[in-house]
Amino acid sequence: MDNRPIGFFDSGLGGLTSIPNLFENLPNERVIYFGDTARTPYGSKAVSTIKQYAMEIAEFLVSKDVKMLVIACNTISATCLDDLRERFPDIPILGIISPAAKKVAGCCTKDNNIGIIATKVTTQSGAYRKRIKELNPDLRVFDTATPVFVPLIEEGIIENEIMDLTIHYYMDEFIRDNKIDTLVLGCTHYPIIRENIERIYPDLKIINPSYEIIDRVRQILKNDDALAGRDNDRENIFYASDLSENFSNMIQKILETEKSNLILKFKNLEF
Ligand code: DGL
Repeated sequence: MDNRPIGFFDSGLGGLTSIPNLFENLPNERVIYFGDTARTPYGSKAVSTIKQYAMEIAEFLVSKDVKMLVIACNTISATCLDDLRERFPDIPILGIISPAAKKVAGCCTKDNNIGIIATKVTTQSGAYRKRIKELNPDLRVFDTATPVFVPLIEEGIIENEIMDLTIHYYMDEFIRDNKIDTLVLGCTHYPIIRENIERIYPDLKIINPSYEIIDRVRQILKNDDALAGRDNDRENIFYASDLSENFSNMIQKILETEKSNLILKFKNLEF
C-alpha cells in the first residue's frame, strides 16, 4: 500500500479530463496536478522547448514525493516519454498514447479506418500511427492536426457555433475522404468537445485516451503493490503556472465541483 499522491501533468488544463475517471475508479488515490497554463499551448512548439518544460515539471512533481508520474498530455507523451524515463528511472512514468493505442488495436472497427485528431507536434511525431500499426498492422491510420481547438477550449468557447464551425472546418473532409469509422481524441483537451463531435458525426466510434489511461494506472499500481488504502487522508492539490480565472472556472467544470472544494496553488517554475 502507498498513500502518496500520483503526479499528473499537462501543458494546461486538458490533463484534468483524466481526473474524474481516476476518482471514480480509484477513489482512494490522491493527485498532485500541474498545468503549465502560463506556457500553454505546447502543441506547436519546438520539441526541444517541450522537453525542457516537461523536465522542469517532472522535477517539481518528483520533489513533491509522488509515487508515479502520469503524462496527461499527448504532445509531451509523443515527444518526451523516453527522456523522462531516462532522467527519473526510479519512478513509474506513464504516457497517454500506448494505453489508447492498445484500446484502438483491440476494438472492432467497421472499415478498419482510424482517425487521430491531435496537435501539430503529436501528428508530426507519428507516435499514434506507429504504436497502433505495431499492435495491429491491418488498421489504416490517418491523422490530422486541429490546433485551433485548444485556444477555443481554453477560452471556454465550447457549446457554441464557433466551435461547431471549427469542427466542420477541420474534420468534414478528413472523415469523409478517409472513411473514418473510429476517432481518437489525441489531445487531452478534446474530451471537452466530445459532445459536439458526437452530435456532428453520430456514427463515429470515439476513443478517449484520457479515459483509457486510468486502467493502466491501476495495473501499474496493483503490480507494484502501491494502490492507496481506504484510510488515505491526503489532499488533492492542483498547481498552475498561471492561476487565472479561466483555469479556476474550467477546473470546476471538468471536476464538477465548487471552488471551495479545491486546493488551487500557483507555482512559477524556473524558466
Ligand atoms: N494537452 C495537450 C495534448 O494533449 C494539447 C495542448 C497543447 O497544445 O499544449 O496534446
